[in-house]
Amino acid sequence: MRRRSLIAMSDLDRAAIARILRTANRFTEVMSRDNKRVPTLRGRTVINLFLEPSTRTSTSFELAAKRLSADVVNIKGTGSSVEKGESLKDTILTLNAYGPDVFVIRHAAVGACNLATRHTDSSVLNAGDGKHEHPSQALLDLYTIEREVGPIDGLHVAFVGDVAHSRVARSGIAGFRAMGARVSLVGPPTLLPWRAEEALGVETSTDIRDIAAADVVYVLRMQRERMGDGGQVPSLREYAARYEVTHDRLRPGQRVMHAGPINRGVELSGALADDPATLIERQAANGLVVRMAILYDLLAEPAAAASEAQELAARAAA
Ligand code: CP
Repeated sequence: MRRRSLIAMSDLDRAAIARILRTANRFTEVMSRDNKRVPTLRGRTVINLFLEPSTRTSTSFELAAKRLSADVVNIKGTGSSVEKGESLKDTILTLNAYGPDVFVIRHAAVGACNLATRHTDSSVLNAGDGKHEHPSQALLDLYTIEREVGPIDGLHVAFVGDVAHSRVARSGIAGFRAMGARVSLVGPPTLLPWRAEEALGVETSTDIRDIAAADVVYVLRMQRERMGDGGQVPSLREYAARYEVTHDRLRPGQRVMHAGPINRGVELSGALADDPATLIERQAANGLVVRMAILYDLLAEPAAAASEAQELAARAAA
C-alpha cells in the first residue's frame, strides 16, 4: 500500500498543520529530558537523499529520525552513484530495494519528489525541490511564530526579497495563509512572482518602506544559483542599497525571520543577523522537533493503528 507523502503545503489542511504543531510541542517537552531518545520509530528506516547542498534541513532530519530511534541512511550527491550519472528514478528504485519507510529528498529540480513517488510506495518527504516547495521549513516557521510571537490567525507577515526563486516563500505563503495570517510580498518587480495577488492571494509592493506594516518580516535569501545570468537585479550592491533589511528599516517590535543560509550585507545586515531579537536561531532549533513531528505524523500513527489491528485480529483468532 502506498504510504502518505508530504510534497507541498497543499497536502495539509489547517487541522493537519495544527496537529503537527501540537506534536512538535510534545517533542519539545521530550527534548528537555536527559534521555532525548524515544522508541516511536524503532524498526523503521529513513533514507535522507540530499542531492543539493543543505546544512539545517539535512542535520535536523537526521537527528530527528535518530531521536525517534529509526534506522537512518544518509546519501549525498557527492560520493554516491549520482556522480556517475545515475538518474533519480534509478536511485529511488535501487534504494527502494532496501525497504525504507520514508525517503526525505532534497533536489535542485522542481517536481523531483513527485517523480520519486511514482517509483516507490514509501512515504516521500520533500526537503526542498528547486524553487517549488519546502514544506518542513514552513511548518517550523509556523511553530516558531506560535511559540515566540503568539497566534498566527490575524498576524501580518511580509516576505521580502527574492520571492520568485524561493521555495521557502512558496510553502510559507501557503502555510501562513492556511493558518489565517495576512501575507504581503515586498521586493523588486523582477523578483516578485507574476500576478502574485491573484495567484497566491497576497498583497505586493516594490517599496521596502512597506515592511513597516508587518508584524513579522521574513527575509529571503538572494538565490543566485537559480538566477541564470543574474539579470533580475543590476548588482547585489544595488539590491542591498534598496532592499537589505536593516535595523533602520524596521520599526520597534517587529520580529525578523530568515530560513538560512544568510547572505550578510545583501538581504540582511550583519548587525540584524546577530541581533538576539531575531527569530533565526529559534527557527533552526525548532527544525528538530518539527521534523520529528512530521516523521511521526507520516509513520507512527498508521503503524500504531496497524499493530492495534493485528492485536485485535490475534485476540479474535484465539
Ligand atoms: N533553510 C534551509 O533549508 O537550510 P539548508 O539549505 O541549510 O537546509
